[in-house]
Amino acid sequence: MNRPLGVTVSRHIIDSQRLHPEATGELSGLLNELIVAAKTISAEVNMAGLADILGMSGKTNIQGEHVQKLDEFANNTIKRRMARCGYICVMTSEEEADAIPVVEGYEGKYTLAFDPLDGSSNIDVNVSIGTIFSVHRRRTPDDGSGDDSDLLRKGREQVAAGYIIYGSSTMLVFSTGDGVHGFTLDPCVGEFFLSHPDIRIPQRSKYFSINEGNYTYWDEPVRRYLEHLKAVDKASGRPYSARYIGSLVADFHRNLIAGGIFLYPRDHKNPAKPHGKLRLLYEAAPLAFLAEQAGGRAITDDGRTILDIEPEELHQRVPLIIGSTHDVELFGEFLAGKR
Ligand code: AHG
Ligand code: MN
Ligand code: MN
Repeated sequence: MNRPLGVTVSRHIIDSQRLHPEATGELSGLLNELIVAAKTISAEVNMAGLADILGMSGKTNIQGEHVQKLDEFANNTIKRRMARCGYICVMTSEEEADAIPVVEGYEGKYTLAFDPLDGSSNIDVNVSIGTIFSVHRRRTPDDGSGDDSDLLRKGREQVAAGYIIYGSSTMLVFSTGDGVHGFTLDPCVGEFFLSHPDIRIPQRSKYFSINEGNYTYWDEPVRRYLEHLKAVDKASGRPYSARYIGSLVADFHRNLIAGGIFLYPRDHKNPAKPHGKLRLLYEAAPLAFLAEQAGGRAITDDGRTILDIEPEELHQRVPLIIGSTHDVELFGEFLAGKR
């Protein structure tokens, strides 16, 4: 069968690099290495049911969460490949308490923050999971290994951000600041091909994603906003439909393509997590970068813009309200007591 001459992700990266004469090709090199790691993880995820890789590794991570074998595999795959890629000076991973150094002599001018496997609770039940990544330029001088100060940078300063979703197909969705583009992995060829050029998130939606099991623990504006979305009013397209997969990447991806709002607000369920569950550096900030690049919004449940938050520590948690602009702004009106 003559396969269409699709645009590979490498070709797309080179083409977008041409838009920036000052580009040195290092960011392209970094993304290409990350893509190799993603393909490796994808192969493992698709085989997980057969290979002895499901279930718990017996370890717990900095988040105090039980680490699944696939979490550990994904973390090691990215860490080992990127430590020697030559384009980054330091990394941080959801699975590691401290910043991860790169191999001496291989330091580069970028930094990498990543959630190696997002949606771990869905690994053993064959529901879509993903990897999320965020790239910044280093702050410290362009030599030697980096440190936390190179990683603790506002989301608005990202030079690239994206995710790979391991679902019915494996897709890579990322932005380097010139829009959001989606690539689908052709497993027969082992290559990502451009399938969703210049993704724009619908300005308003019909879906909301939130874990309603936490309803009792939410603040009043969140509850009132949800009641509003569930009320019957045909003229304003209500009630919305509920869609909650429990993998942030999958919930975000659906909303990016079809429109929707995802909410993980702070709740009063766990005093140890007063700022909600999701992490700023490698979950909220990269997805907020994509949301804004695609014409959407991302704020906290006290109205701050995610991309303008100055991080204070690597595993800092933030409440996340993200998705279609109309719906996020409407949430802001409930927050401000205007509704
Ligand atoms: P991770 O698997 O990387 O720890 O992330 C899980 C997150 C996110 O993917 C999802 O939106 C959220 O946990 C679901 O949390 P609840 O089970 O509390 O709804
Ligand atoms: Mn996650
Ligand atoms: Mn994770």
